[in-house]
Amino acid sequence: MIHFHYHDVIIVGAGLAGTRAAVEVAPVADVAVISKVFPTRSHSTAAQGGAAAVLNNNLKRGVDTWLLHMFDTVKGSDYLADQNIVEYFAKEAPKAIIEMEHWGTPFSRMPDGRISQRDFGGHQRTRIAHAADRTGHALLHTLFEQSIRLGVKYYPEFFVMDLILDEEEGDYVVRGVVAYDIRTTELHIFQSKAVMLATGGGGRIYKITSNAHEYTGDGFGMIYRKGLPLQDMEFPQFHPTGLYPLGILITEGVRGEGGYLINSKGERFMERYAPDFKDLAPRDVVSRAIYTEIMEGRGVGPKKDHVLLKIDHIGKDAIMEKLPEIWKFAKTYTGVDCTKEPIPVMPTMHYMMGGIPTHHETGEVVADVGPDGEVSKVVKRLYAGGEAACESLHGANRLGANSMTDTIVFGRRVGKHMVEILDTIKIKDLPEDVGKEQEEKIKAILSRNSGEKVSKLREELQETMWENVSVFRTEEKLIKALDKIKELQERYKNVYVEDKSTTFNMELKEALELENMLNYAEALVASALFRKESRGAHSRVDYPNRDDEHFLKHTLAFKQEGKEPLIKQRNVVITRFPPQERRY
Ligand code: FUM
Repeated sequence: MIHFHYHDVIIVGAGLAGTRAAVEVAPVADVAVISKVFPTRSHSTAAQGGAAAVLNNNLKRGVDTWLLHMFDTVKGSDYLADQNIVEYFAKEAPKAIIEMEHWGTPFSRMPDGRISQRDFGGHQRTRIAHAADRTGHALLHTLFEQSIRLGVKYYPEFFVMDLILDEEEGDYVVRGVVAYDIRTTELHIFQSKAVMLATGGGGRIYKITSNAHEYTGDGFGMIYRKGLPLQDMEFPQFHPTGLYPLGILITEGVRGEGGYLINSKGERFMERYAPDFKDLAPRDVVSRAIYTEIMEGRGVGPKKDHVLLKIDHIGKDAIMEKLPEIWKFAKTYTGVDCTKEPIPVMPTMHYMMGGIPTHHETGEVVADVGPDGEVSKVVKRLYAGGEAACESLHGANRLGANSMTDTIVFGRRVGKHMVEILDTIKIKDLPEDVGKEQEEKIKAILSRNSGEKVSKLREELQETMWENVSVFRTEEKLIKALDKIKELQERYKNVYVEDKSTTFNMELKEALELENMLNYAEALVASALFRKESRGAHSRVDYPNRDDEHFLKHTLAFKQEGKEPLIKQRNVVITRFPPQERRY
């Protein structure tokens, strides 16, 4: 049975970006949020260290300005961020944080009652607003409360399988989405005037990641399978301090509060790699430094495959007040009491700088660029936000704490644009056969009694990505990864599930997630192969230098059935800061 619903606006994903957009739209229109998990379990809740904004509450490193925040972000991005977007972000960030404060976010406080701010990598001022080390949790609960107050309708534990697209005056246009209810496996068609993809990132294609299990890039997969581009996918971010060996996030806030990294000789090795910023250099720099220490034999432990993060010197009271979750994670998963001994850490896949490209002014999804590198086509009324989107804010390397602010600044902007256009849109009938393809797909997976197991294919993908598409890359390794992904895509055609139930069938959900993972992994590796230079988080051992002449451009990857992905380049917007050598 197929169920039909209408809402003016459909938002896919209940994390910070999706919920912030919903809160903007809800006072004037009927808005529904579809989420794979219960809304407050969305991965935003796991964000720890804080949200960057110029508040000037803590002047220990000098007076802050939006221009300095903009410069730090552009330099952090290795000059690949679009500077018009960064300027908007840096100017809007303080308002977005204050708005969250007024809605009730329980931020940590200075002695005089103002929001506490801490240091983070690559930021030249103390500008990270935080709620101890549970900032994402505090922000998400605040927005969820606001959304309930405003009557936002939620569809929790629904899996969105596809977009319903049409064409209108030379552009694509979105008409809704096809989803299924994970509780019953019944299909639901959601018709709407506008759709936002706020489906988060996709760290689960890697074996070691700080990302939650649901972070399987479903929005990336949906876009790419439709022949629409994914942008700058070659830039997954490896957070330097994942808890060894699991990869659970140990916030950069530890270093922001005075922690530092040491190798097996007890050396503060970051002094050699970033003489000015040291442990508070940006993430790409610190992750490369850790791997270099390990490769040169100065890693710790029997396998010499990780380093140590020392924080005990700031004292037990400070740790318990500012970093209580970190203390608990280290104790629970490794037995280490960080008030007395250092935490074992290693880089962990953490964030996707790339994603679904959006238009600079409207926030709508970009469908194509012309030979001049400018946007030539969009998907009207389809928006993306949060980690799913590539607004071109983070470029080749995101500064820590810019992503939480990104979600609320651009979530609000998407909501505002939707509100402006909703009244002008007429609803059209959907095709007769809407949902049939997705119904057949589910039936085919459930009816196969033998073939390839989901968990086996996923594990092989995760191993391949970790081994070949990690912090340092070479052409040889990237080709190996792409060949393996193609092999896995072929084997996926014969995927089956042992669980035939139609009630909460997690194996079926994982089979559908895997299809998305195999798709955006292909886009990621093909983009990494194309970019024959080193920039930000993309370190090609075979092309160690930045090459602005050929690659000061965004990469767009388009799926082509039975062929290699098509790669195009999109112009980078440079307004105030011409590219310079990046030193820390
Ligand atoms: O280290 C952290 O707390 C992570 C923050 C971020 O990714 O922005």
